Amino acid sequence: MYKIRIRGGARLKGEIPISGAKNAALPLMAAGLLTGEPLVLTNVPKLADVAFMADLLRLFGVDVEWTGEASLGQGGRYRLRAGTLQGTTADYDIVRKMRASFVVLGPLLARAGEAKVSLPGGCAIGARPVDLHLKALEALGATVELTEGYVIASAPKGLKGAVIEFPFVSVGATENALMAAVLAEGRTVIANAAREPEIGDLGRCLSAMGAKITGLGTPRIEVEGVDRLHAAEHSVLPDRIETGTYAMAVAIAGGEVELTGTSLELVGAVADLLKSVGAEIAATKRGFKVTRNGYRPVSASVETQPFPGFPTDLQAQFMALMATAEGVSRIRETIFENRFMHVPELLRMGADIKVDGDTAIVTGVPSLTGAQVMATDLRASSSLVLAGLAAEGETIVNRVYHLDRGFERLEEKLGRVGADIERLPT
Ligand code: UD1
Repeated sequence: MYKIRIRGGARLKGEIPISGAKNAALPLMAAGLLTGEPLVLTNVPKLADVAFMADLLRLFGVDVEWTGEASLGQGGRYRLRAGTLQGTTADYDIVRKMRASFVVLGPLLARAGEAKVSLPGGCAIGARPVDLHLKALEALGATVELTEGYVIASAPKGLKGAVIEFPFVSVGATENALMAAVLAEGRTVIANAAREPEIGDLGRCLSAMGAKITGLGTPRIEVEGVDRLHAAEHSVLPDRIETGTYAMAVAIAGGEVELTGTSLELVGAVADLLKSVGAEIAATKRGFKVTRNGYRPVSASVETQPFPGFPTDLQAQFMALMATAEGVSRIRETIFENRFMHVPELLRMGADIKVDGDTAIVTGVPSLTGAQVMATDLRASSSLVLAGLAAEGETIVNRVYHLDRGFERLEEKLGRVGADIERLPT
């Protein structure tokens, strides 16, 4: 077990290389189940969740080879080969540890005609049901049963193209539907599909494997099913949440940092929001530069929305920034209930935040003070690190394993731009 110690007050200067996106890498790895031929993924971040997905795929008989220790900013390479599947069951013990493992349901069903995957159950950031995933697979002709906490899906004669209309946007359900539809017979329309860049990345990889997909990046994705997919190589797109987190780190700590291997387009609404609170943002050849010198950031209000809106995965980090800004900010969480678990921890550091239903009212204070805090989930933990960068004195963030699920070598990346940060055993 580790903790992270930060001594606040250092301005940040230099460059931070951005890793491949965790939320793209996980479904891309699951896509390896769709063919017996090798799928090679590059720019894969070295993260606990990614290693976990590799272990899960091995249980299905997938030959998984990791080559190249990822150096900072240069991801690793996975070669996946799902020659003959040796199983189609994902146990409770696995799915409860990583909810994203539910994304194997669609590809297993499409490839093997059956799959048994544990229901993820509750999770720390709200109920997060999977009804949309199941409705999509049923629309494609699968029989879906719920027994003893498991989803048992079968389509012995194969899936059939259909119109899938989602009542609201779900990233995971769109991914499961897309991966099932590529091997279904005939045409599938996914209406009200998620437009997150990670869906586009998955679609591009599936296309390179021989799938016929149009409409990626729009709310209407169309798929013409094919009989089989083949070998391909695909580079994972940069992580827009990691990008946004480091952009906010510069905004909160002050300084000038170039984020490389990423782009402004990828972060959607985030760049304009950061400009409105006083950061300067300028595109560069390799990514973009974030600068904040002089004055305190000023407050801005925001609500989380599906892409291209402001992402829920940056809500906690933005709250840390607003905790030190001049003025009052209202931050509304519309995607997940119960995603304000960082609030009590930020209060320990001297923040002034009141929660009213789905909205946090943040009155900025001139400075936070270092404290012992507890990471409660992945994105919340990064918000505590950001708060620590701006706080007076020493902050200890406990339960760092949450961070390791989704941020590659965070202390190294922040350390190289001048933050006083280190990882210590507990
Ligand atoms: C993905 C991301 C996560 C991000 C989230 C929203 C991955 C691995 N995770 O999670 O980091 O925070 O998108 O951008 O990519 N819902 C239902 N029924 C369903 C499915 C979802 O009611 O069948 C609800 C959820 O409870 C939530 C909302 O829909 O309120 C959006 O969830 P969804 O987009 O599915 O999130 P994930 O794919 O789980």
